[in-house]
Amino acid sequence: MIIAIDGPSGAGKSTLGKMLAKKLGLLYLDTGAMYRAVALAVVRKDIALEDQEAAANIARQARIELVGEPESLKVFVDDEDVTAEIRTLEAAQAASIVSSNSAVRRIMVEHQRQMGLSAPNGCVLEGRDIGSVVFPSADIKFFLTARPEARARRRFEEDHAKGRSSTYEQTLAEINERDRRDVSRDDSPLTIADDAVVIDTSELDLAEVFEQMIAVVDGVKSEAA
Ligand code: DC
Repeated sequence: MIIAIDGPSGAGKSTLGKMLAKKLGLLYLDTGAMYRAVALAVVRKDIALEDQEAAANIARQARIELVGEPESLKVFVDDEDVTAEIRTLEAAQAASIVSSNSAVRRIMVEHQRQMGLSAPNGCVLEGRDIGSVVFPSADIKFFLTARPEARARRRFEEDHAKGRSSTYEQTLAEINERDRRDVSRDDSPLTIADDAVVIDTSELDLAEVFEQMIAVVDGVKSEAA
């Protein structure tokens, strides 16, 4: 079974994707982490993020691996653990630039398809273009969204708990900026697939969203039986 989860940043995709993968015994693929890993590799080689050809070469050569159980997933680039480093604000901004590079996207999409198809029980993939480009024939497509203010509030609280000193207003401005780039890029912009189940998580807690997602999965499973 292939489950696609798309949506803007901060809508709860990662947490819910991991919960779903764990519950259903599926592989979990965080495709945003892959774009972040490529961006980090580009920066480390002192290559400009805007240099399309050089960035594509890095994407082609770098060995990006996602290893471990969903809740303790580690990201490696050429055998180096970059799990923490790809979560910085700089890495997010760099990933946003690299992910607008069509050649990089082609390489990542191919990689994601191979990993998804080789998972013995199937896979939950989380990103922006999973239901529209990577697996247009996914068994289930979710589109998780929430108002920018709700997403910024959650991100701000997470950052605060981690001891980061950004303000709510800064967090909201970053979310709006990333949304703008994700939606307006030429190649594979964030879109809602026609057959996606859309869940607005603004007023729901995790357990409520999870319950809705499991109900959809159970429905699809019983139809197939
Ligand atoms: O979900 P995230 O914040 O880790 O994603 C990092 C960046 O990569 C973000 O700018 C969106 C982009 N991305 C993408 O273009 N396509 C994907 N499938 C996943 C992420």
